[in-house]
Amino acid sequence: MAGRVGRAPHTGSLRATGVRWDDGMSDADTAPAGPVLPVRRDLTDGVVLLREPTDDDASAILDGASDPETVRFTRVPSPYSLEMAHGFVRTIRTGWAEGTTCIWAICDAAEPDELLGVIGLHGIDLTGDPGGIAEIGYWMRPAGRGRGLMKRAARLVSLFGVDELGLTRIDWVATVGNDASRHVAESNGYVVEGLLRRRDAPRGVRHDIWIGGLLSEDLPRG
Ligand SMILES: CC(C)(COP(=O)(O)OP(=O)(O)OC[C@H]1O[C@@H](n2cnc3c(N)ncnc32)[C@H](O)[C@@H]1OP(=O)(O)O)[C@@H](O)C(=O)NCCC(=O)NCCS
Repeated sequence: MAGRVGRAPHTGSLRATGVRWDDGMSDADTAPAGPVLPVRRDLTDGVVLLREPTDDDASAILDGASDPETVRFTRVPSPYSLEMAHGFVRTIRTGWAEGTTCIWAICDAAEPDELLGVIGLHGIDLTGDPGGIAEIGYWMRPAGRGRGLMKRAARLVSLFGVDELGLTRIDWVATVGNDASRHVAESNGYVVEGLLRRRDAPRGVRHDIWIGGLLSEDLPRG
C-alpha cells in the first residue's frame, strides 16, 4: 500500500518528546496528499521485527502506554485506555496512507505476534535539498527492555528514513536525564546538539529537553 506525503510543516523536535501519541487525538497530521511514499513493509535484521500494528495489539499498547517510565518520558495520554489503543492503531494506518508518519510495532523476531514496543518517524517532510526531515520516537514495554531490541529497531528505522525516504536529517528529542533513550540514539550515530531549558511541559510541569539529530552521513553502516 502506498502512502502519500503531506505538506504539513515540520512538527519535530520542539513539539514532541518521544512517540507522539497525541497524533491520534487530532487531525494535525492528516495533511493534504503529496508525493507517494515507499510501500509500507516490515523491517527486520533477524533479531528484531518491525511490523504493522493491528487491533490484536491493543492490549499490549495499553500495557506499554500505561508504564510509568513511558508516561514520564513521552506524550502518551494518561490515563490510557483500550479505546485509545484501538484509535492509535487507526491513526497509524492513516499516517502511512497520508504519508505523514511511519510507525511500526516492535517484536522479537522469534515471537512476531507479541508487540513489545512502538517506534516511528513523525512529522515527515520530504521537501528540500538534499532531502527531507522527520523525527524519531519510541517506547518499549518493560518486558522488552534491556535486550538491545530498541537499538536495533532505531537502526532499522533510521536506515529506512535515510535510504527509502531520502531523509537528510532525523530529529531526536528527550527529557534531560532520559539516559536510556540517549544511549539508544547515540549508539546509532545521533548527535546531541543542545539543551533547551524549560522547553517542554507535556504533563504541566516544565522541564529541560535534549535536542539532537542524525544526518544521513552520521548513520553507521555495516
Ligand atoms: C528508552 C527505551 C526505549 C530503551 O529501550 P531498551 O529496550 O531498554 O533499549 P535497548 O535494550 O535496545 O538499549 C538500551 C541501551 O541503553 C542502556 N541504558 C539503559 N538504561 C540506561 C541508563 N539509565 N543510562 C545509560 N544507559 C542506559 C542499556 O545498557 C543499553 O545499552 P547497551 O546495549 O550498550 O548496554 C526504554 O527505556 C523506554 O521505553 N523508556 C520509556 C519511554 C522512553 O523514554 N522513550 C523515549 C522517549 S525520547
